[in-house]
Amino acid sequence: MDAISVIRTKRDGGTLSPEQIDWVIDAYTRGAVADEQMSALAMAILLNGMDRAEISRWTAAMIASGERMDFSALPRPTADKHSTGGVGDKITLPLAPLVAACGAAVPQLSGRGLGHTGGTLDKLESIPGWRAQLSNAEMLDVLRGVGAVVCAAGDGLAPADKKLYALRDVTGTVEAIPLIASSIMSKKIAEGTGSLVLDVKVGSGAFMKNAEDAAELARTMVGLGTDHGVRTVALLTDMSTPLGRTAGNALEVRESVEVLAGGGPADVVELTLALAREMLHAAGLPDADPARALADGSAMDCWRRMISAQGGDPDAELPVARERHVVTAPASGVLTRLDAYAVGVAAWRLGAGRARKEDPVQAGAGVELHAKPGDTVRAGAPLLTLHTDTPEAFDYAVAALADAVEVGAHHAPAPIVLDGIA
Ligand code: URA
Repeated sequence: MDAISVIRTKRDGGTLSPEQIDWVIDAYTRGAVADEQMSALAMAILLNGMDRAEISRWTAAMIASGERMDFSALPRPTADKHSTGGVGDKITLPLAPLVAACGAAVPQLSGRGLGHTGGTLDKLESIPGWRAQLSNAEMLDVLRGVGAVVCAAGDGLAPADKKLYALRDVTGTVEAIPLIASSIMSKKIAEGTGSLVLDVKVGSGAFMKNAEDAAELARTMVGLGTDHGVRTVALLTDMSTPLGRTAGNALEVRESVEVLAGGGPADVVELTLALAREMLHAAGLPDADPARALADGSAMDCWRRMISAQGGDPDAELPVARERHVVTAPASGVLTRLDAYAVGVAAWRLGAGRARKEDPVQAGAGVELHAKPGDTVRAGAPLLTLHTDTPEAFDYAVAALADAVEVGAHHAPAPIVLDGIA
């Protein structure tokens, strides 16, 4: 077996054999296949695709490159959620304790933000004392004691993906559906969850800008989960405008706590409950009532215990940015568009996100929305408040918002959940 023949097979539109896939993933992880060879193969896959059997084998090979966690000794069924990423997507924060409060165990391995999308770990790290890095034993302890844990994936999980994802990031090969699907699912399957709900975002703030691509990604991932014995379903959800009224780390934690306290923006509550119902159903707990667990405070209790178990102080004041700048509505009428991607880029430029994975983030930075599409706005009234510790970023953030807003006469409300794929 050699790298050049594997690359040629895919370059010429052929199908990779199981032996070729196993060999190339293992050899790349060991360093026997060079980055430039893997880049060529990733580009050939992006251009020529892979069939279901190839993607399934590719995923299995990435899982086999590292450890596979096992939660079968837990007394509760496990359920996890993965979002393909969006702007203001803080759903994991209320969702994990909510689902745990309803009887499932939620082992949520999460990531950091890159580019215009935020990362769950960056958000939680704005809570004083909270630790993302747990050993496998600590993770299991929190899961046993609290029922939900949100932490960073250890280095032992799908190391082939870690290496390949970093390579794709710098070679223009992130956007291949087989590579995205296998990357996400190798980590989720290796994590050892029994069931998985995928929140596949569609719209300007998402990876997938249109419903057809999002549905193909969702179908591919559901197929992979099923092939590997994980009960998997997907919801396609709207990401044309930010979720909720905040985009930025501490801002989003504050909003999530509002949801857990029984308030919060309607779209965040609706999506949290929709995903909770899917997770509980997939975990074999169809009679659990997540709306009641939000209303009676049991989800909030679970949140507080989850934060404390990872060193955080749930009562601590959250960081606040030093400077603010208000963006006003350009006209009076109904807000018909507030673009998710533009708000995500603005939050990123204000310091809420990072350009390179080594960069720090500002806990207090971000964008606060005073109106959502469908709301009536008045010319000159506050529409957005920008938060940052680095006020020189304001002009740059305002420039990102130049075409983000439209005010008209009428707005047709769009649903948050667009479709479901099982
Ligand atoms: N998230 C991942 O983990 N992998 C991808 O390829 C894209 C998004």
